[in-house]
Amino acid sequence: MQNNQEHTVRLEPAGIERRVPHGTSLGQIVGEQGVDFACGGRGVCGKCRVELLKGEVELTEWHRTLLERQGLSPASWRLACLSLVTDDLTIRIPQGEQQILTDETEIRLGEETGYALAVDLGSTTVVVQLVDLSTGKILGSSAELNRQSRHGADIISRISYAIQGEAERKQLSELIREQIGEQIASLVQPEIRAEVRRVVLVGNSVMHHLFCDLDVTPLSAYPFQSPNNAARRFSTDELHWALPASCEVVFLPNISHFVGSDILAGMESIQIHKQEKWQALIDLGTNGEIVVGRRGEILCTSTAAGPAFEGINITQGMRAVTGAICSVNESDGHVEVIGGGEASGLCGSGLIDAIHYFCQQEAIDMSGSIADESRHGELPLTPKVSLWEKDVREFQLAKAAIATGFQLLLKELGITTDDLEHIYVSGGLGTYLDVKHALAVGLLQASSPEQIRKAGNSALAGCKLFLYRETRPDIAEILSATRHFALEASPDFQDYYCNNLFFMPPMPE
Ligand code: FES
Repeated sequence: MQNNQEHTVRLEPAGIERRVPHGTSLGQIVGEQGVDFACGGRGVCGKCRVELLKGEVELTEWHRTLLERQGLSPASWRLACLSLVTDDLTIRIPQGEQQILTDETEIRLGEETGYALAVDLGSTTVVVQLVDLSTGKILGSSAELNRQSRHGADIISRISYAIQGEAERKQLSELIREQIGEQIASLVQPEIRAEVRRVVLVGNSVMHHLFCDLDVTPLSAYPFQSPNNAARRFSTDELHWALPASCEVVFLPNISHFVGSDILAGMESIQIHKQEKWQALIDLGTNGEIVVGRRGEILCTSTAAGPAFEGINITQGMRAVTGAICSVNESDGHVEVIGGGEASGLCGSGLIDAIHYFCQQEAIDMSGSIADESRHGELPLTPKVSLWEKDVREFQLAKAAIATGFQLLLKELGITTDDLEHIYVSGGLGTYLDVKHALAVGLLQASSPEQIRKAGNSALAGCKLFLYRETRPDIAEILSATRHFALEASPDFQDYYCNNLFFMPPMPE
């Protein structure tokens, strides 16, 4: 017999409530909150786990086995992708506790009045800030996981989904336009709506294309060069956003290949195009973007670092959320856990610290192997969380990609780290990153640790500068001074990359 009952599902920590029909998939509900299904909902990755705070969710024997394999108690945990709603529920979504990196810098330029919104559209997170143009004050921020994540955790899987057909591409575009529209509506009160002058969006090249509903096929294969990198303008009407028709909406241009307007904004935030001395900007993400430049001469590249810095493909990896080990003391191996409590995994900064610690202990050798065979490839950090040899390999690939990109840009420019005034490191990893450990394991290189500056969310900081009309000439200035360097075409790439896989001092510049 059909059950026409409805149930209330309360989602923590967001405090959102949903009324859903009996038998609705819990995966669908948490998917709407931007939870990504790293294994595509097959029950094997455990990333969609939710904690049951109230109510019951039926458990099959298979589901119980999968939970136990992941060290999760069936009394209080479920995998959302395998669960149906048959009761009123309150659940906690650990992925929703991610520390989304916003930017609190307040800037006022010129004499403009009214309001504007800066949008940092990341593959993982979407941050929107409402700014009072006359004072530069941030009136509100909205940070959410990108709801496209239900169609893949990273840009490669998003591209794969989008190129299946026009309907899939449009679906991703509509999903993100609708999400940002809702985030904007939550920030803009009706009494100020008429005075919202503009919305400026920045993001990587794939996010640009997916928001703008452009074909991502050129980004799916060599030479990864799209003919559609220009800025795009929209009316608020076509986006169905609750903003006046006079409000301009612009997605800023990509620079080249996989270097998007988030990096353009990052360059603006450090004013690289106005500096006499050389500066570097390294964005540590799945796609690592690296820029080295000064006034009139800027070189950029992108490198596929893989998702290790976000805790993905790491045996007990997780994002920087509650329960993640975010740092490891270099002398005694003591771990720091986000939110306190028991560690349930390792986030990117914890991974770097753990590798640094075990390298110092000589438990990991120069090649990245775990020296003592009796350990069977496992180095315990806590009773429940270990670093595995496979994780060290993942990290080696990521750090070699970043280090090689950086070194080859310096080589191409004919400079060394001595010539750099500052090396800005941006991206979510930066919050907890221990610079000295990152230098010691070869992820970063500098002549001194003092050169390194944590730049936080430089894309959002730069995007807020671009809210003001007087920064418009900067866009053309940066674009005309910037040249893209194709790492894969460099004859030195292989040598540098192989050398950077090792844990030892970098190759002389
Ligand atoms: S999505 Fe991987 S376990 Fe649910």
